[in-house]
Order: sequence, then C-alpha cells, then structure tokens
Amino acid sequence: MCGIAGITGTDDAGRALVDALARLEYRGYDSAGIATHAPDGIEVRKSVGSVAALAALGSPGGERRSGIAHTRWATHGAPSTRNAHPHLSHDGTTALVHNGTVRNVARLRGELTDRGMATTSDTDSEVLVHLIAWHRAQGVDALEAVRLTLARVDGDYAVLVITADRPGTLIAAASGSPLLIGTDGRAVHVASDRAALSSGCTHCSPVLDGEVVAVTAAVPAGRTWEALTPGTTWTDKGSYPNFLLKEINEQPQTSRAAIGALFSPVAEGSAADWGSALDRSAVKRVCFLGCGSSYYAGQVAASFVENLARIPATAEPAAEFTQRDPVVEPDCLYVLISQSGETLDTLHAHRFLRRHPVQVLSIVNVRGSSLDRESDASIPLYAGAEVSVASTKVVTNMQIAGLALASWLARADYGSKSAALLELDLALPILPTILADLLAGQDAEIRALAESVHAFRSMYYLGRGPSWPVAREGAQKIKEISYIHAEAYQASELKHGPLALVDPDHVSVVVAANDAGGQQSATLIGQIQARGGAVVVFSQHQDYEFDAPTVRLPAVHPLLDHIVMGVALQVFAYHTATILDRDVDRPRNLAKSVTVE
Ligand code: F6R
Repeated sequence: MCGIAGITGTDDAGRALVDALARLEYRGYDSAGIATHAPDGIEVRKSVGSVAALAALGSPGGERRSGIAHTRWATHGAPSTRNAHPHLSHDGTTALVHNGTVRNVARLRGELTDRGMATTSDTDSEVLVHLIAWHRAQGVDALEAVRLTLARVDGDYAVLVITADRPGTLIAAASGSPLLIGTDGRAVHVASDRAALSSGCTHCSPVLDGEVVAVTAAVPAGRTWEALTPGTTWTDKGSYPNFLLKEINEQPQTSRAAIGALFSPVAEGSAADWGSALDRSAVKRVCFLGCGSSYYAGQVAASFVENLARIPATAEPAAEFTQRDPVVEPDCLYVLISQSGETLDTLHAHRFLRRHPVQVLSIVNVRGSSLDRESDASIPLYAGAEVSVASTKVVTNMQIAGLALASWLARADYGSKSAALLELDLALPILPTILADLLAGQDAEIRALAESVHAFRSMYYLGRGPSWPVAREGAQKIKEISYIHAEAYQASELKHGPLALVDPDHVSVVVAANDAGGQQSATLIGQIQARGGAVVVFSQHQDYEFDAPTVRLPAVHPLLDHIVMGVALQVFAYHTATILDRDVDRPRNLAKSVTVE
C-alpha cells in the first residue's frame, strides 16, 4: 500500500510534494514525509497522521527543486515518525521511499547489522536505503547501487531514491508495484498511480517491471508516453461535506454513463469492443475474482450470469484463489474485477491466470491502471474518480458491467434476444431515475432508520439468494465507516448457529427483495423478535407489510432491484456513520488502494 511521489524541475519542491501527498492520501494516512535536495544535503521532514499535519510543519526553507514523498499505510511497525518514510541512510547521503513488501527483510537486516549498519525502524523498507548507502561506500555509482540492492529483494516494490551528490535527480524503480513518470512541460513528476500525478501533467509513462531509471528535469528520452487530458487526474468534493456523500449522489449520472456505453452496440466499452477479444462458444463457466467490495460485486454479477445466460458462475476472493493452487479450467471465463486496477491480490490472480491457456477478462474503473494495461480485454466502468475509501458508485457500476457481460453471454447463446433480455433492455434506462428518486426522496426516511440503530454495537445483515452478496456489501459498508460490528448471513443460515447471538442488544437488518426469498422474511423477522432482537427492514415488496420498522424501496426489475437495494444500504451506512461522527472518507486502518499482499 502506501503512496509515493517525486518531483524535479520545480521552484518549490516542498509545496509540490505536499500537494502530491494530498492527492495520494487515499492510499494511506497513518504518517507522511518528504525529503528534498537542500543546498547542503538532503533534508527530511516527517509527521504522524494526515498530510495536513505534515503541511503544518511549514515549507522547507531555501531553494528546493527536487525531492520525494510518501504517505504510509502501516504494514511493518506502528504509525510513528521513526517508521514513516522517507528513510535516510546513516551517513545522510541517501533517502528512499518505498511501496511494497520486502519478504526477505530479516535476512537483509541481519547482513546490515553484521556490517555495523543496524536499522532504527520496524519497517522492511529501511534496509533498502542502508544497502544502497553501503554499495555507494564501496565506490559504486548511485544507479548501480539501487540496481544491486533491488536485485536482492524478494517481493514487490516501487521505490524513489535521492542522493546528496546528485541534486535534481530522482532514481525510480519498480517491480510488481506501479510507478508512473509524468510531465507537465516544465517539471517532471513521479507517482505511484495516475490519480496522484499532478493535474497539470500532459503525458505519462510507466516505469517498467525491473527498470531502474534516473529521472531529471529533462524529460526522459526513449520512453513510450501516453497523452493525458490535463485536469482529469483529480477531483474535488464541490459543495458536499465529504467525497463519500458526493460519490453516493453521483450514482444517477455514473450509472447512466455506464448503461449508455456498456449496452450500446458500438461505443467504446460495449460488447463489440471487449467481446471481440473473447471466444464465447468456449465459455462453459464463469468465475469472478476480486477483493472486498469488488468480490461482493462479482458475486452479484455471478448471479446475473446464471440468471440471464444460464451458465454456472461463481465468485471468489482473488487472494484465496491463488492461495489454494486452484484447478484452472480451460472452458471457464475468468473475470478480474477491481476499482483501482492496482490491488496486488487481484493483480497476482491475473498474472497467475495469464500463464494458463484460459480466457481472462477484466472489469476495471481506473483506465491505464496495471490491471487495465495488462488485460487483453477489459470492461471500463465509467464511474469517474472514486476518492472516498469506501467504494460506492464503482460497486454499482461493477454490477451494471456484470449485467452487460451476462447479456452478452446470453445473447450470443440464443442468437437473438430472449424475452428476459428484452425486459432488461426496457428496464435499464430507468435505473438512473429510480436511483435519483431514492437519493432525493428517501434520504430522510433512511436517516431516521439509521438514528434507530446507531447505538447498537453489533448487527446482522440477512438476505437470501442474490440478496446475500447485497447484504454482505451492506455489512461491509457499515463496518468500514461506522465501526459497528456487522456480519452478513444467508437468512436461511441464521437458525443454524448465528441466532445464538440475537438478544436485545443486537439488531438485524433484513434485506427483503421482491422475490420468493424476500417473502420468507416474515418468518425470519418473527424468529429474531421472539428472542428479543431488534429488526429493521429494507423491503422491495410493494404490497406486504413486515412487522418491523421498514424502508420500502421501489421494485423495478428482478435483477436491477439488487442494485437499488445496494444504494439504499450505502445511504443507511453513511447516515449511521455521520450520526456517530466518523471520518467517512478516511476510515481508520484502511486505505483506498491495497497494493500489498
Ligand atoms: C470497500 C472497498 C474495498 C475494495 C477492495 C478492492 O469499500 O473499497 O473492499 O473493494 O480493497 O479494491 P479494488 O476494487 O480497487 O481492487
């Protein structure tokens, strides 16, 4: 995880690096630091907490034209100034920021101790700076010292290094972890992802796996550059109090954009685009792989594939898939699903699958991300930048992409459109309007329900069939941003164990879709209430009254209803968290893009 940035060729490197860190904060916000080329060597500034705490230290004085920066999400060692990056070599000649994992840290640390260069932090990254300094002390030049050091690393890394004897030069290197060089025509920037590049950048170029490159203010020659649209790399929250509320409320527009593109016969992102890279006739099964909310969106998408295309489909957490040495089935279409396109567990699953003779498709929000770049075929999500750590509008569009894939699989099978597909085609265009009505018209009602549950310390989210992954995502959202313990169960499983925890201090959120499973909710509610448990209901039944406080949501179409329910549960989590006065954009212990195993 963590975010790294660098700049060279600017008048005020300190300010530019703090700005870059603010853009990178969604990758971690435990601590932050910068190292600049000062007139008399390298100056390092670090602080615990948010980038604002670092900015409060003031700008480094004097002329600073180059430097590197880091925002941390702790993996090795608690958040502290000692563990914060940049790490400085004992002789003060070399500073380094690192994103990734050094698995053989114990061995490297031992070697350094034997050479009298003991580390002072708990991080794995610090060993790298001392190894580089050791090579330099043997007379090796800076670029070669970085190369020799990284050759010893077992793990993934993106690093930026500065040395006191080369003001204006940053050394950038990457392997398995993304790093991009960008240019705005004046200064040259480096960042661990595209969203963190300055919005003024007009071109970017990825540091390739295994590459070690010296970056100076002269735009590096011999690279492949991709044009960027200036001003599109970042966004602000406008009149909203936080990004989360903004992103929840953007869903009428973002879902419309996704439906318009993914279901168009010709647009970029339509099946004509990604479907042409696949052999439909060879697909006998579909397996979605992703992490966290993206995995749950994959589970919902799997139910769409089964329902519309009648092809067996499953979803699995990407990391568990590679962990268990899976049987890779030649007739299975593997679908990698990710907002950032940088989640390391998902990238590992993708790279693992690419070594097998199988069809692999990606569903990715961030264009140009590692997953997007490495995929032969990729369904874009049209959700725009998602800044808040908790995913909302992207999860919704992932489900729309799942519907587009299911429709393509079904269409190719039946040749012409089945009645189910024609029905879906009719209902899809009204989904954005339904979401707009829900967000504007039912917000107060959902907030009132949140008021009634916010003091509980434990919750169940209960749904049946396709409502189960929707309930899982609902529970995920509430625990992420409100810190209330929440667990999702298939409603049918409750009586087989989890019911033991139900008592007056426990509340259950019943997800009652407009289907057979939803109708069985009355019995479920009775079983919980008989044990003194509290119940609140999100129902899409139009003519059935449950005997518990209920928010009644519109029922549009059996498949789209799950998407509508998901958005209502986001609003519920948002209100519960804000009533509890939580920092909804930056939940504790989390970061937006999980680039470690
Ligand atoms: C939860 C959330 C995470 C991500 C997960 C995968 O709100 O955002 O669970 O879904 O870390 O991230 P991506 O989709 O970027 O691969």
